[in-house]
Amino acid sequence: MTSSSVRHSTPHSTAITRIGSLLTNDPSLRTPDNPLGLLQDAAVVIEGDRVVWTGTSSKAPATDSHHDAGGRALLPGFVDSHAHLVFAGDRTAEFHARMSGRPYTAGGIRTTVAATRAASDAELSANVARYLAEALRQGTTTQETKSGYGLTTHDEARALRIAAGHTDEVTYLGAHVVAPEFADDPAAYVALVTGDMLDACAPHARWIDVFCERGAFDGDQARAVLTAGAARGLIPRVHANQLSHGPGVRLAVELDAASADHCTHLTDADVDALASAPRTVATLLPGAEFSTRAVYPDARRLLDAGVTVALSTDCNPGSSFTSSMAFCVAVAVRDMGMTPDEAVVAATLGGARALRRTDVGAIVPGARADLHLLDAPSHVHLAYRPGVPLTAAVWQAGEKRV
Ligand code: NIG
Ligand code: FE
Repeated sequence: MTSSSVRHSTPHSTAITRIGSLLTNDPSLRTPDNPLGLLQDAAVVIEGDRVVWTGTSSKAPATDSHHDAGGRALLPGFVDSHAHLVFAGDRTAEFHARMSGRPYTAGGIRTTVAATRAASDAELSANVARYLAEALRQGTTTQETKSGYGLTTHDEARALRIAAGHTDEVTYLGAHVVAPEFADDPAAYVALVTGDMLDACAPHARWIDVFCERGAFDGDQARAVLTAGAARGLIPRVHANQLSHGPGVRLAVELDAASADHCTHLTDADVDALASAPRTVATLLPGAEFSTRAVYPDARRLLDAGVTVALSTDCNPGSSFTSSMAFCVAVAVRDMGMTPDEAVVAATLGGARALRRTDVGAIVPGARADLHLLDAPSHVHLAYRPGVPLTAAVWQAGEKRV
C-alpha cells in the first residue's frame, strides 16, 4: 500500500439538535443565575465517544448524522456511585415482614450471602448484566458496584472479577459483615479481609469499602480494613452513619475517602468534618430509607454547610431494591430538602465527584458522550412527575443505547 492510498478514518459525528433545555453542568457556563449551565434551544455534537461541541442549535456544525430532540430536555447520564449488584436471590419475605413492622438490621445480609455463594458464575454475571441494563434504560450511564455477598476469599474475588467484566467502577467490600464462619472471632475475619482476601481481590477493584456500623465493623476494624486497602492502591469509601451515630463519617474524612455513604445520622462534628473535606463526598441513598421506613438524611443541612452531595441508588436486595436514579431524585426533593436543581446535580456531577471522575457527569467538550434525553421539557420533571418513565433516549460513550 502506498502512502497516498492510506485512508484516515475520522470518527463518526452526530448532532443532537433542537434541545429545549440542555443541562450541561459546564463550569464555564455556570453562574450564580445559571448554576446548572443551562442552554435553551441548544445542540450537542458527539464525535466518536466524546462530546466535541455544545451551543445554540442553529449554530451547530455540520455532522454525519443528526437526532432531533424535538424541544425536550437533555442532561448528563446519571452517575450511580453506590450499588451492590453481584448477588443471587432476593429478600421479598424480609421486605414484606418489615412493612408489617419488623426493623431492618444488618443480619439480613447473610441470607443473600448464602444465595450468592450457591450461585454459578454465569448466574451472577447475568444478574449484573440485567441490573445494569435496567439502570441504563432509566438513564444511568456510569454504574459502580461492590462485592460483599461472598465473604470468602474465593467468593469475594469471583464477585469482583464478574463485576469488572461489566463496569470499571468496582469496589471490594469483603468487610460488609463478619462472615458467618467467623461469628465467634471477628478479629480473625478482619485479618482475612486485610490479608489473603485482599491479595486475591485487589487486582480486580478500584475501591475499598467497609460497613462501619454496630453489628458490622467498629471504627478500629474499619480503619484497619481501609488502610490495608489503601496500601494496595485501593481508594477508600465508607458505609457510614447509616443506622446510628458512629465513627464512619469522621474516619472517611481522616482517610481522605472518596465518599462517606448514607450519612443518615450525623452530629454537628460530622457535618463540620465533611464541610472541611471537599474531596470526601456525602453520598445519600434515599432508596434505603424508603425501603426500610427509616428517617431520611438531611441533605439541606449538608448543602447549607457547603458539603458536596451525591445521590445514588444503593441498589441491593435487602435495603434498597431500586435501580432508579430518577426515583432517588424525586424522594430527595420531596423529603430531604433538596431543590430539583440540587438533586439532579447530585445525581450526575455529584456521583462523578464521588467516583473522582472528570470525564462523566457533565456535558462539556472533551467529556464522554453520556447523554440522557427526557420525554419532558425540563429536568425538573424528574421530581415533578415521580414514578413516570421519562427516559426517551440514552447515549453511552457516544453510542445510542436506548
Ligand atoms: O448499603 N448497609 C450495608 N449494606 C447495604 C445493605 C445490604 C443488604 O441489606 O443486603 C446498604 O444498605
Ligand atoms: Fe450500600
